[in-house]
Amino acid sequence: RRTAVLVSGRGSNMVALIEAAKDPSYPAEIALVLSNRPGAGALDRAAAAGIPTCVVDHKAHPGREAFEDAMQAELEARGIELVCLAGFMRILTPGFIARWEDRLINIHPSLLPSFRGLHTHERALQEGVRLHGCTVHYVVPELDAGPIIAQGAVPVLDDDTPDSLGARVLGVEHRLYPLGLALVAAGHAKRVGNRVHLEGARP
Ligand code: GRF
Repeated sequence: RRTAVLVSGRGSNMVALIEAAKDPSYPAEIALVLSNRPGAGALDRAAAAGIPTCVVDHKAHPGREAFEDAMQAELEARGIELVCLAGFMRILTPGFIARWEDRLINIHPSLLPSFRGLHTHERALQEGVRLHGCTVHYVVPELDAGPIIAQGAVPVLDDDTPDSLGARVLGVEHRLYPLGLALVAAGHAKRVGNRVHLEGARP
C-alpha cells in the first residue's frame, strides 16, 4: 500500500520504515516523505534513499486547516493510502484525522497510556518506572490516546539519564514501527472500539 511518512525532524524512524519497505515482501511502499519544516534532516535522508519528498510549511499557511488542506492535496496527488507520523510535531485537527480514519498511525516514545505528550523519558525517570518503551497506535483526535497496535519495552537502569534511556527506546522504535506499519498495511490490525485485534497475524 502506498504510504506517506510525515516528519518534522531528523527522521530516524522514517529511515527504519524506508529500510524495511525495501524488502519486496513488505506490504507497504514508502511513496512520499512530507515535512512541515523545510530544514528537516529527514528530507535529505529520504532524498538520499531515492524517496520522493515534499515540504508543506505550516508557516506559509494562514491556519491549521489551510495547512492540512495543502497536505491533503499532496497526499491525494500521489495516491497515498496510509500515513505514518514519525516525529511530526504538528497537532492534527479532528477533520484531517477523520479523513484518514484507520489509515493514520503514530509512534510514541512511551508505553501508552503512560506518559502521553512530551518529555517522556524524563518523566519515566521521575516516576521511577522499571519498564519503559514505545507504542505504535492509530491516531485519534485526543493526543496519544488512539488504539494500540504494538508496543516494545526496555528496562530502566539505575544510572539512566533521559538521553541514555531515550537511546535505548529509540533502538526499539526502529524495529517496532516497521512491524506496526506491516500489520496495518497487511490488514491485520483491525480496530474494535478502542482496541486493536491482530487478526491473522503471526505473533
Ligand atoms: C521519536 O522518539 C518518536 O517516538 C517521536 O518523535 C521522535 C522522532 O525521532 N514521536 P525521529 O525523527 O524518527 O528520529
